[in-house]
Amino acid sequence: MNHFPIEFPRRAAMALFGGAVAAGALGAAPSARAAQGSRMQQVIPVPESVREAPGVRFELGPDSAIGADPAAAGVAEYLAGVLRPATGYALPTGERGDLVLRLDDAGLGQAGYRLEVTAETVTLRAGTPEGLFNGVQTLRQLLPPQIESADPQPGPWPIPGGAIADRPRFGHRAAMLDVARHFFGVEQVKRYIDQIARYKINFLHLHLSDDQGWRIEIESWPRLTEHGGSTEVGGGPGGFYTQQDYAEIVRYAASRHITIVPEIDVPGHTNAALSSYAELNCDGVAPPLYTGIEVGFSSLCVDKDISYRFLDEVIGEIAALTPGPYLHIGGDEADATTDEQYRAFMRRALPILRAHGKTVVGWHEYAKATPQNPAVVQYWGTDPADPEAAEVAAAAARGSKILMSPANRSYLDMKYDESTELGLNWAGYVEVADAYGWDPAAHLQGVGEESVLGVEAPIWTETLENSAHLEVMAFPRLPAIAELGWSPAATHDWESFRARLAAQAPRWEAAGIGFTRSPQLPWP
Ligand code: ACM
Repeated sequence: MNHFPIEFPRRAAMALFGGAVAAGALGAAPSARAAQGSRMQQVIPVPESVREAPGVRFELGPDSAIGADPAAAGVAEYLAGVLRPATGYALPTGERGDLVLRLDDAGLGQAGYRLEVTAETVTLRAGTPEGLFNGVQTLRQLLPPQIESADPQPGPWPIPGGAIADRPRFGHRAAMLDVARHFFGVEQVKRYIDQIARYKINFLHLHLSDDQGWRIEIESWPRLTEHGGSTEVGGGPGGFYTQQDYAEIVRYAASRHITIVPEIDVPGHTNAALSSYAELNCDGVAPPLYTGIEVGFSSLCVDKDISYRFLDEVIGEIAALTPGPYLHIGGDEADATTDEQYRAFMRRALPILRAHGKTVVGWHEYAKATPQNPAVVQYWGTDPADPEAAEVAAAAARGSKILMSPANRSYLDMKYDESTELGLNWAGYVEVADAYGWDPAAHLQGVGEESVLGVEAPIWTETLENSAHLEVMAFPRLPAIAELGWSPAATHDWESFRARLAAQAPRWEAAGIGFTRSPQLPWP
């Protein structure tokens, strides 16, 4: 284990202004009744509409088969892969079966689906494979929790009868993984992809570079990874993705209908690059590698042309490997540049990203550089009364889209409370009720439903070193952010949510996913 200070030094002051909201403010009763009704009433994120058929149930059996339209064959294979290990059934896929996947109903949009369960068949209908995939995530939650086991279980495998019609509130529901502070390998990223897919998250933002490490191979700048990727927070060996590794992550994510959003954080958070190439420094001197957790001390040299050639070549290689529409330019905590330098940097940097055919996403600081639309501004503040929130609202008024990830609500690396071993607390403590208790379209004045692109749950890894660490921070809070992104605002209800969330625990146990037993939830 590494050793970490309790406070995150540069950001500690923020905690004075933006502490977490007390759970009591949301009216949490000390003893919520357990979730009632069938599993149809327990789905997370809660669907747009659910109609139960009492007394009706389908039972998955040894002769069950998955029948799918040819264009849905990938989803059919995915569903079979979910159901085979625990049931031990063959579950052949083809044109006919009692589990039916049809691409004949576009009525619920790009990501929506309808699910109907009768005694004889389970039918999923959507207009796209993405919609069917979302329906599959609902369907697996209708089966007993043991369905998540990797080994054969006795069953039986009933599915409650009824009908669900469902579609997302927001089209962009993201998770973020910081692979720079500690490196996470391809298999660890795939594991996290599978976990976030359960809750209908459809974007994974990878924070690929920071002061402590550069994590993606750039052929035209090889020392970025050879040198800049060779360590991490605490002095461990670090690591990096080869371009093939990155392509494999992109491919795997796509097989789960998740789009990768790569971030190269500039002009600050660049010590690993500055240490790899002396010529990127204003004084021409490469600093040593850095393994601490301070922020705000590094910057690309704003006045040197080579900084922009560097950015163009790096972004060019990453854009070519990234089929998704977005590139994230970072832009946060650039405390080693003046406002004037920062704006000058962004004036040259933003057109470079656009020239590679991508829409730019940046942390909210870059709003002050008035990015040209289409642009996405990612809000990560803690206090909607701060001036930075007004700048985000001004960007929304100019037509930029806002991605909501308030640090004291959605940062999954914040400690739950003072007893949490891992994580930091510069944005305050984030208990489950804090993660759930806000509305993405009412959080910032001047940033309404039409300006909100969606939500993101970032996980920074200064203190997190492996998948087990990620899981106890992500669960149970990630599903809270996922529900805010997916479910209609009218369904928002803490008592319902906490009961449904606690009822997920046996699924996580069966799947081998770690989680934190928050005292706010009525665990079974
Ligand atoms: C951030 O947390 N610095 C975006």
